[in-house]
Amino acid sequence: MSIWQNKTALVTGANSGLGKAVAMALAAEGLRVGLVARDRIRGEAAVADIRAATGNDELHLFVADLSDQSAIRALAQEVRQKFDRLHLLVNNAGTAFPERRLSPDGIERALAVNHLGPFLLTNLLLDLLRTSAPARIVTVGTRMNTAMDFADLNWEQRPYRMMQAYGQSKLGNLHFTFELARRLEGSGVTANCVFPGVFKSNLGGTDGAQNLFWKLVARLLGWAIPSPEQAARRVLHVATAPELAEVSGQYFGDRTTIPAPAQARDPEANRRLWRISEALTALAPAEPETVAP
Ligand SMILES: NC(=O)c1ccc[n+]([C@@H]2O[C@H](COP(=O)([O-])OP(=O)(O)OC[C@H]3O[C@@H](n4cnc5c(N)ncnc54)[C@H](OP(=O)(O)O)[C@@H]3O)[C@@H](O)[C@H]2O)c1
Repeated sequence: MSIWQNKTALVTGANSGLGKAVAMALAAEGLRVGLVARDRIRGEAAVADIRAATGNDELHLFVADLSDQSAIRALAQEVRQKFDRLHLLVNNAGTAFPERRLSPDGIERALAVNHLGPFLLTNLLLDLLRTSAPARIVTVGTRMNTAMDFADLNWEQRPYRMMQAYGQSKLGNLHFTFELARRLEGSGVTANCVFPGVFKSNLGGTDGAQNLFWKLVARLLGWAIPSPEQAARRVLHVATAPELAEVSGQYFGDRTTIPAPAQARDPEANRRLWRISEALTALAPAEPETVAP
């Protein structure tokens, strides 16, 4: 029997692409799986597919738009009501936007969804993860990183560039993971980031980021690009491999660690983004040092 039998996982962005493939594999392994989707109909369709394919009845749909902090707070509350334990959190949801618009909390949306979404959700579920230890937090990153411009995180002073905004927000996943792992030392909860490789995807499609040109390129290259199921193997390795039970604060590629960009290896930069993120999400500081600006 797998060590993951009777354990509980939560996967964001679980209605399509990589998240759905990860949720499917976890369900096949016998875990109770919470699937987070922003659209109830797409979420229910994914749950039905996964149930039909795996026979797993312990699938729970949570509907939340991760660009909206009040929705994330409601999601965390609902997760706590439904689950008394959480052994695995996969922060997978991600997107890109063709133009700068603000979230309901006044934050540029790529930063809101891709960085502050996992930051806030993880922090709100941390005590549940701690009491469930051993537990793992796996955040899906990318190698398409752009340096974090701390002076203009919200894209107020620069012309908006979709890929740069995406790359900056996804660098946040690494800053976040490394600082989180430091804070979780000795707790039995690990935090790692994984680059799933480039794979077939609807990334940003729902938010209008995929124009006709990109759709055509994706269609033409489709045969050469791995499927989400193939990419999911990387995530599942970090999420479930027994030999990684105590490995934390690492950036993984295809089952091995890969170097992170220099900026994300700077502990002071990691702490700085953490403090800013706490302020942007109105989270109570977890340590005295986080009070400092
Ligand atoms: N595809 C690649 O080559 C690649 C490479 C490196 C890293 N990644 C990362 O892999 C992860 C998964 O992406 P994917 O390629 O599988 O794309 P995808 O098929 O578009 O999946 C993204 C998921 O995130 C959800 N999502 C987006 N915005 C959301 C919001 N505001 N609230 C809640 N959920 C939201 C999407 O929901 P909807 O279906 O409602 O839009 C979808 O379920 C992302 O973190 C991405 O950055 C992808």
